[in-house]
Amino acid sequence: MNEPMWALEARSVEPPPHVPPDCVFDVDLYRMPGSERDFLAPWKALQQAARRPLVWTPRNGGHWIALRPSDVARIYADHVNFSSRLTIVPREWGERFPLRPTTLDPPAHLLYRRVLTAVLTRTTTERAEPHIRMLAARAAERLRLRGECELMADFAAGIPLALFAHLANIPRSLTESLPAYADDPRADDPSAAPPMMERFARFLRGIIAERRAHPGEDLLSRIATSTVEDRPIDEDEAVELATAVLTGSLDTVVSTWGLMILHLARTEALRRRLAADPSAIPGAIAAMLRRFPIMTKARVVRHDQDLEGVRMRAGDMVVLPPLSDADDAHGDEAGCPVARRAPHSTFGNGVHRCPGASLAQRELEIMLEEWLARVPEFAVDPRQAPRMRGGVLGTVLALHLRWDPSSTRSVTPA
Ligand code: HEM
Repeated sequence: MNEPMWALEARSVEPPPHVPPDCVFDVDLYRMPGSERDFLAPWKALQQAARRPLVWTPRNGGHWIALRPSDVARIYADHVNFSSRLTIVPREWGERFPLRPTTLDPPAHLLYRRVLTAVLTRTTTERAEPHIRMLAARAAERLRLRGECELMADFAAGIPLALFAHLANIPRSLTESLPAYADDPRADDPSAAPPMMERFARFLRGIIAERRAHPGEDLLSRIATSTVEDRPIDEDEAVELATAVLTGSLDTVVSTWGLMILHLARTEALRRRLAADPSAIPGAIAAMLRRFPIMTKARVVRHDQDLEGVRMRAGDMVVLPPLSDADDAHGDEAGCPVARRAPHSTFGNGVHRCPGASLAQRELEIMLEEWLARVPEFAVDPRQAPRMRGGVLGTVLALHLRWDPSSTRSVTPA
């Protein structure tokens, strides 16, 4: 039997002297074995194989990995001991892509975070709802009688970008030049320059400049005309904040949606319950969000300190994998026990916790409502297995579904 990759002897970078040899596992987060079928499974397998809460890998410049969901949540929340200066490994990548507010620590972080909190409000979500519903309803109605689809491309991939265009008052056609869903060259070649952020930033710069001159009521105008430390925000600052919002709101939602639908395709009782009783959908989405984290972010250790009995040195990096404390045994899709559990890290935790979490949650709820209203019965196409990709943002690349068109229902889009 082949040994799993992390059981191989450590290589790439020599472990520094403060790393106990029995903590060393060979883990390349960009090439986890089996992640092309399920990017969450190898993390669980590592957690079980390691049988310790903290391991160190020589890959990607050498870094720690926290393997207990409670530690992941704690490190996300602890900006005093763990800096966001670099949030991806290897550190050269992190150094290359500073982005406000993501890679700032308090107090500077708060100056910019205030701007995002002011624009991503409950009212923003409420105003977005009819548009999300229209997009999801149209997409589902278009597919209903086909009896099969590749869910990511055919249904989900376009929705968050169309929503952003709506919130930013940009013609949808303008966004066609932007990278498509899951279009990430880094995943295949870690040495390739990732042009992603620059492409989004370049796209936004012209619009931000125009909105600074002629502001409206839309999301980008509000960012472009906000204040930072009692002075008008400058163009570079506004472009970075807008880039964080735009890039943060796309593949995250689509990929999470893919994991949820895959789960529902395989969990008949839950799928039927939600189709019969849409009022149970918000609770189920909340529970599935806990269960299906997608991000693998990192932090820089700020001071020498002990964690789980192991010494970490200032400057070390620690990776926070997508590990959940939810599983089948908890039966938590009913929604009830979720509120009583410890905080989860699907949206991060602490000062950087995702400011788009409520919008994302509502988006997922509405997408599921509109999908199930039309296609209540569906299964994974047995001829084509789901395809995924691990990395900083775990991605569902393809999810082929099939259903009987006669089991669908026609619902007129509102
Ligand atoms: C299911 C969908 C989403 C997931 C799983 C997700 C996940 C996350 C996570 C884990 C972080 C924290 C990163 C860190 O601490 O290093 C974060 C931050 C962020 N997210 Fe989201 N996100 C989602 C949707 C959205 C949406 C819809 C928006 C915008 C409308 C958004 C905008 C942002 C921004 C701007 C940040 C940076 C916040 C800061 O640094 O203070 N995200 N997100």
